[in-house]
Formats: sequence, C-alpha cells, structure tokens
Amino acid sequence: MAQPTAIIESTGVEGCNGSSSLAPALATIGHGQTFLAQYGSYTHNFKLLFYEESMEIRRFRTGDESALFQVFLSAVHDIASRDYTTAQIEAWAQADRAPEVWASRMRELRPFIAEAEGEIAGYADIQPNGYIDHFFVSGAYSRQGVGTLLMSRIHDEAELLGISELTAEVSKTAEPFFLRHGFQVVQRGFPIRQGVILQNALMRKDLHHKT
Ligand SMILES: CC(C)(COP(=O)(O)OP(=O)(O)OC[C@H]1O[C@@H](n2cnc3c(N)ncnc32)[C@H](O)[C@@H]1OP(=O)(O)O)[C@@H](O)C(=O)NCCC(=O)NCCS
Repeated sequence: MAQPTAIIESTGVEGCNGSSSLAPALATIGHGQTFLAQYGSYTHNFKLLFYEESMEIRRFRTGDESALFQVFLSAVHDIASRDYTTAQIEAWAQADRAPEVWASRMRELRPFIAEAEGEIAGYADIQPNGYIDHFFVSGAYSRQGVGTLLMSRIHDEAELLGISELTAEVSKTAEPFFLRHGFQVVQRGFPIRQGVILQNALMRKDLHHKT
C-alpha cells in the first residue's frame, strides 16, 4: 500500500491549497481537523485530509473512455440531480449518448484520472488556455476529497504550463466546490441542452494572485 498522503486544504481564505508529504509531522492533528499554520507573519486556517488508500492521479489513457462515461453519468444523475430537475438531468447526461462521439471527445480533452485500486473515481481536464471543460466525481466517491486531488493536479499542471488563469462553466452543484478552491463567479449562464434550459456560472481564478 502506498504511503498515506496528506492534503492540506485551505478553509476560508482564497487560493491557498496544495499537497504535502508531511504526513508524519501532521499526524497528531488528525483527519478532517482544522488547524492554524503560520508562514512568517501570515496565519491561515487549514483542514487536514489523509488518504490511507492509494488514490492515484494519472493521465488519460486510450481505453478509459467508457469508464469515464459511467463516472459522468453517476456524477450528474447521483450528485447534480439534487440541484436540477429530472428534465434538466436527462438533457445534460443522456445514457444513450453515442459511444464513439463520447470517446473521441475524451481523447481530445485528455483529462486527469483519479483511480483507486483500478477503479476510476473521477476525472477533470485542463486545456492549454486554462479552461476546465469536464470535472466529475462518481457518486460513490462524493465528498471524500477526490475532487480536491484533481483540482490540486490541475493547479500543478497550470504552473507547469505557465497558465495564468483557470476558467470553467460550473454547475450549481459544483459552484461551492469551485468557490472553495478560490474561483469567483464572473457571469451566470443559461445554456440550452436538448431544448431544456440549465443554469451554470462562468467562474475564474487568477493564478497570479495565489497567496
Ligand atoms: C463538484 C464535484 C466535482 C466535487 O467533487 P468531490 O470529490 O465531492 O469534492 P471534495 O470531496 O474534494 O470537496 C471538497 C470541498 O468542496 C466543497 N464541496 C464539494 N461538494 C460540495 C457540495 N455539493 N456542496 C457544498 N460544498 C461542496 C466542500 O467544502 C468540500 O469539503 P467538505 O466535504 O469537507 O465539506 C462533485 O460533487 C461532482 O462531480 N458533482 C456533480 C457533477 C458536477 O456538477 N460537475 C461539475 C461540472 S462543472
């Protein structure tokens, strides 16, 4: 089994999160607990999340496509269905979508994959202009930190590629998650899918202002 990983997540103040291998030093704090940390004169609230199991974030591989479709369906039907009507959910994520169209889209997006013990728990992409097109976590893994791991990997990639801002068109369901990760709402949108109006928000994060 892999070493436990500690994710130190910011609580409250914008834009300060990241992964750490300081698990032993932080072990006394305990999973899920918040603590204050000080960097010079800067004091900040953090929450500690441990991952005892090996949740790996890896790059997309050809062959992942159909598993990603199941994650997408689960995320929309099991999680987002709390915030959208049945008609909106059906219009957003139809189970009979043409597999070859989906597969070719995934091969274009080449998302990061969160995988535990061979099972894909979530996926999210970042495009060269900083746009996040897909961000989905399976219902079975909701609120277990998978989205945070993917978001952390996206930030690492943005830094690697010199990307200065992240943008996404974010569902009502995901808005609190994106806010939590330092994004702000730029504009509310009402896209039409299959003749049904959905609600979302264009959200943005300026990476130059990271604290
Ligand atoms: C949004 C989504 C990706 C979040 O993934 P996740 O793995 O559940 O997120 P995490 O466990 O890392 O959440 C981290 C924090 O974000 C916030 N958060 C996440 N989901 C939230 C929700 N539904 N409501 C309020 N806050 C939420 C919380 O602060 C959470 O910390 P907590 O669980 O300790 O309170 C996932 O819920 C999802 O796939 N939703 C449905 C599909 C969707 O709308 N995708 C986005 C399309 S743009």
